[in-house]
Amino acid sequence: MKSKTAIYPGSFDPITLGHLDIIHRAAKLFDRLIVVVMVNPAKKCAFSPEERVELIKKCTTDLDNITVEFSDGLLADYAKEKQAGAIIKGLRALSDFEYEFQMALTNSKLNPDVETLFLTTKAENMYLSSSMVRQIASMGGDVSGFVPDIIHKQIINRLKG
Ligand code: COA
Repeated sequence: MKSKTAIYPGSFDPITLGHLDIIHRAAKLFDRLIVVVMVNPAKKCAFSPEERVELIKKCTTDLDNITVEFSDGLLADYAKEKQAGAIIKGLRALSDFEYEFQMALTNSKLNPDVETLFLTTKAENMYLSSSMVRQIASMGGDVSGFVPDIIHKQIINRLKG
């Protein structure tokens, strides 16, 4: 059976305009898109899982075919549980490629029913990352061009000082 469900995983600490662009484009390609906040064991997150889910929900109220969840399990298992046929990832620069390639191969070994699909990040978001946003906001800088307007204040208040 062809799956019409895709998963967009990430640590989203916090969601940025780059992530939001991928969400909008992926939501057009699939009947159902699950945005899932997951654990990257290599990272120590600033926002709690609940906060990250809430921030994503706030800036995606215009999309009626997405759901936002948290999972602390393996991505391959989560895709199986949700019967998802695709994992969506955004590719920024060549530097992302090796790591993404390794994850895609590992996930397909763990769950042969899921394909990883890469969407190229928009040129203006090529340099963007959540850690950059956190660093700028925590030092009192302007991140309005990097995060959705609706959550801008919340991010600033949470990270400043
Ligand atoms: N525009 C702008 N920035 C983007 C972007 C886009 N389209 N897509 C990604 N980024 C940024 C992210 O903000 C992130 O920035 P940061 O490093 O400062 O946090 C960076 O690019 C890397 O993003 P990504 O490659 O998606 O990593 P991640 O840490 O957000 O997510 C998981 C990785 C959570 C999906 C991965 O660790 C995972 O699958 N965990 C579950 C456990 C598991 O199954 N492990 C085995 C994997 S094989």
